[in-house]
Amino acid sequence: MVRETSLLPRDLICPLFVDENAQKPVPIPSLPGFFRHTVETAVSEVDAIWELGIPAVIVFGVPRHKNDTGSSALSGIVQDTISAIKSDVPEATVIADTCLCEYTSHGHCGIVNEAGAILNGPTLEMLRRIATSYARAGVDIVAPSGMIDGMVGAIRTQLNEEGFDGVAIMPYAAKYCSSFYAPFRDAVDSGCAFGDRSTHQMDPANSDEAVREVRLDLEEGADIIMIKPALPYLDIIYRIKKTFGVPVAAYSVSGEYAMLRSAIDNGHLTDDSIYETLLSIKRAGADMIVTYFAKEAAKKLASE
Ligand code: PBG
Repeated sequence: MVRETSLLPRDLICPLFVDENAQKPVPIPSLPGFFRHTVETAVSEVDAIWELGIPAVIVFGVPRHKNDTGSSALSGIVQDTISAIKSDVPEATVIADTCLCEYTSHGHCGIVNEAGAILNGPTLEMLRRIATSYARAGVDIVAPSGMIDGMVGAIRTQLNEEGFDGVAIMPYAAKYCSSFYAPFRDAVDSGCAFGDRSTHQMDPANSDEAVREVRLDLEEGADIIMIKPALPYLDIIYRIKKTFGVPVAAYSVSGEYAMLRSAIDNGHLTDDSIYETLLSIKRAGADMIVTYFAKEAAKKLASE
């Protein structure tokens, strides 16, 4: 009765990978238990996720072709998956990661010049078009994840102009330049061919900057603020929730999953560590958590 924090399946968001090249679900070695799905198997996966009481998935696509502008993000596997989910499990909330890094041949989150620097204007133009294509497919929330300056405002204006003012925006507002993304980059082949993302992702040493970044995104029209990673940044989650009082999502990233997964699989920790970790993220102030443990945690919570 005196417990202050609750953790429920409805607090969780499950990542979902779809691959235009896949004929059947392909296991992802860097994320044990995860697959690159076809559109059909992705829909059955969402059925299973929904049955467990998890209300939302966040979709990541692996395209058949990549090029220097990432143009294959404009139509293909993600749009097809969104509309297939919305026709089969319409109640499920579909979030689409909105970024170029999975679609560009160089792996950067935007269009780059010869020197390899991200060009803000042309990148925003692409993000507006990608977000609109997801909205046309029926997405509930777009989650621009590239930390590109002005991305929220650009997407909001475009969505509203096209009549999609009901589509929410959940930017990765404070996204750190983190070593904890490594298993994900293997999962979607989105490593950088040159350079890194430190020009637009945040320095792990900074906290005031997170407040500035979040303020900008809120002014531009963000509905839910995403902070990423979660576990090494609990202080940021706490601070942002206290400062702004807006809905906060925390992304417990692939490296956090890998850390606990291998400790549990090797018998160094029990799976109670999953619950305790997710609870710590909620206690810090997150309203919802993107986690690779979503299904496992929901099953456990249901049996309690
Ligand atoms: C970018 C994106 C990344 C992740 C989610 N969206 C990778 C990156 O910024 O390099 C990482 C998620 C994870 O590690 O679980 N589209």
